[in-house]
Amino acid sequence: MKAILAINNKNYIGLNGELPWRSSKDLKHFKEMTNGCKLLVGYNTALKLPKLPNRELIIDPRGELYPVTDDMWCIGGKKTYEKYVHWFTELHISHINDDTIGDVKAPDLINLLDPACKIHHYYFDVDWFSFFSLPYFTPIIVPTIEKAFVKSIPNRFDHVEPIIWVSLPTNIANI
Ligand SMILES: NC(=O)c1ccc[n+]([C@@H]2O[C@H](COP(=O)([O-])OP(=O)(O)OC[C@H]3O[C@@H](n4cnc5c(N)ncnc54)[C@H](OP(=O)(O)O)[C@@H]3O)[C@@H](O)[C@H]2O)c1
Repeated sequence: MKAILAINNKNYIGLNGELPWRSSKDLKHFKEMTNGCKLLVGYNTALKLPKLPNRELIIDPRGELYPVTDDMWCIGGKKTYEKYVHWFTELHISHINDDTIGDVKAPDLINLLDPACKIHHYYFDVDWFSFFSLPYFTPIIVPTIEKAFVKSIPNRFDHVEPIIWVSLPTNIANI
């Protein structure tokens, strides 16, 4: 099986069950690589995975190994990479130019790989508007702006329903 993984400058791969960054170029790369294939995914990753059209998603069964085939990709997360690492024939690593501190570190796969496994490296930047989707944006910055804005125009919003501000969710986009 093949595996595809993205790592940032601080060696993180996940934050709050999602990717810590937003990189359209890497998502495009992921889509091109995995298009039309079977994807084996860990339970935790599957919980917040966006729609993946034209791909068959298989959730890794707990406590047993899913029968591995050549046409299948392991797409993580950390525990799932570690579980299937011995079967990887190709490992495609995207290096994301991002410094976010996540909560899931990259798995240490290099020493566990079959020596015949081919490793491919790619380098991608994050999107310029990534800042607006970072987790701290919603709880800290948005209420501050909202408060300042509403205060500056008294009574103007009395008749309007409260506005619910959310950061751009990853799962609105198909990747
Ligand atoms: N950057 C990337 O390329 C990339 C790719 C994929 C995912 N990620 C990130 O990796 C992180 C997730 O990795 P992960 O190692 O935590 O998890 P994971 O590999 O996605 O899923 C495996 C985990 O799911 C649990 N699990 C399995 N079946 C379950 C069930 N029926 N009920 C409850 N839990 C179950 C397992 O618990 P037990 O060990 O107890 O069985 C195991 O800890 C996310 O942040 C995700 O965004 C990053």
